[in-house]
Amino acid sequence: MESSIGTLCTPKVYNRQAMKFYVRTYGCQMNVADSNEMGRHFKARGLVETQDENEASIFLVNTCTVRQHAEDRAFSEIGRLRRWKTRHPGRKVVVTGCAAERTKEYLEDRFPFVDLVVGAKSIEDFGALTERLLDRRMTDEELDYAVPADDKVAAFVTIMRGCNYSCTYCIVPSVRGREIYHSMDQILGEGRDRVAEGAREITLLGQTVNSYRSGTHRFANLLEAVASIDGVERVRFISPHPYYMTDRVIDTMANVPQVCPSVHLPVQSGSNTMLKQMLRNYTREQYVELAAKMRRAMPGMTLSTDIIVGFPGETDDDFRQTLSLIEEIEFDWGFIFKYSPREGTPAARLECHPQELIEERHQECLELVDRIALKKRSAVLGTYQDVLVEEDNFGRTRTNYKVHVSQDVAAGEEIRVRITNTQRATLEGVIENGNVTFENFREESRNALNAG
Ligand code: 5AD
Ligand code: SF4
Repeated sequence: MESSIGTLCTPKVYNRQAMKFYVRTYGCQMNVADSNEMGRHFKARGLVETQDENEASIFLVNTCTVRQHAEDRAFSEIGRLRRWKTRHPGRKVVVTGCAAERTKEYLEDRFPFVDLVVGAKSIEDFGALTERLLDRRMTDEELDYAVPADDKVAAFVTIMRGCNYSCTYCIVPSVRGREIYHSMDQILGEGRDRVAEGAREITLLGQTVNSYRSGTHRFANLLEAVASIDGVERVRFISPHPYYMTDRVIDTMANVPQVCPSVHLPVQSGSNTMLKQMLRNYTREQYVELAAKMRRAMPGMTLSTDIIVGFPGETDDDFRQTLSLIEEIEFDWGFIFKYSPREGTPAARLECHPQELIEERHQECLELVDRIALKKRSAVLGTYQDVLVEEDNFGRTRTNYKVHVSQDVAAGEEIRVRITNTQRATLEGVIENGNVTFENFREESRNALNAG
């Protein structure tokens, strides 16, 4: 029998058969981490996560609003849940995240069956808000936050929320608010908790993650501190802003062995006119110099990016400059986005390009980025890489390539594999008794660079 919320919320029944929740997450890694955190609040109240929506009593949709397309997908999912909900009495629908923050009233009007709407700015109050949903207040003694939140080998830790930038196309500052930093103690505590649950890799998360500050500490101090947590083998971070990619951060990356030599650094455009219109706070030349500096400090590193095509006023020449930047830098991979006007942002007042033009530019840009990515991957063919296995035969190199390993290997193990195929974004690798390590590979690249 499907359990109803009412009965399950009395302590006895709740102990016998736990109520289940299902989570669907849209958008960025920040949202994935928020979903984990919300899941933790459910678990602390005795609920169990399920991967099967049919056995769930609570369906949580964590929404994204960065582009219209992301928001539309989340809304159509919520629409579908009207039937999911009526199929069993007592089922509840929770909608959270950035689209919930932006359109709370509209959502409540359009989907009156939704039981709880929690905007991105209120995620930290989610624990208390769930009690309204569960019709039951729990005392602090009853809450059990000792239940594992996450048993992943590669875990995420949110270090800050919000964004102090005002890129003219971006809705994030208005839905997530200004920057708030978690304390070093809290971050290190969370890092240790994740390691105790099985994590070997920690990815630090923030909208402009490297603008982190806490008292006199800056992002570089945090990187060092997280890297020195017992049991942490790898540290990554997303997404940094070019402005805060200081020499100290680069030195720390180069000198702290746990920090992985891979940076996702959104550039958005190769045209200085567009960068200015976007209020990005750097020029193309500064970005190019930064990329060179990072590569000098970390030979063999990977560098990836985000690009927006079709920003209002982007001329053919501006667009060509973006293409030429991609060729100049040779990004290892990249995400290309079609400009999407977001109501309330300064750029939304400007006249949009016709959709066909945006599509064309998108296609051309994608092809270039993919062609270069394929070329960059082929340089990895035949090398030996240290792969941290995350799940069933899949892991990542320190440079953040996903690798499928043909032999059976346990999650959590770091193995040395030889890369046998680089045709696809997920590389193929085999375990072999080789003697070329990543460090050797780095040394070789350094020598090659010096020789060249
Ligand atoms: N339209 C298209 N892409 C956008 N991004 C942010 N806002 C928009 C928008 N309005 C992209 C940026 C950012 C990534 C997360 O999403 O490239 O780096
Ligand atoms: Fe948006 Fe710019 Fe902040 Fe990134 S830095 S979240 S693009 S406003």
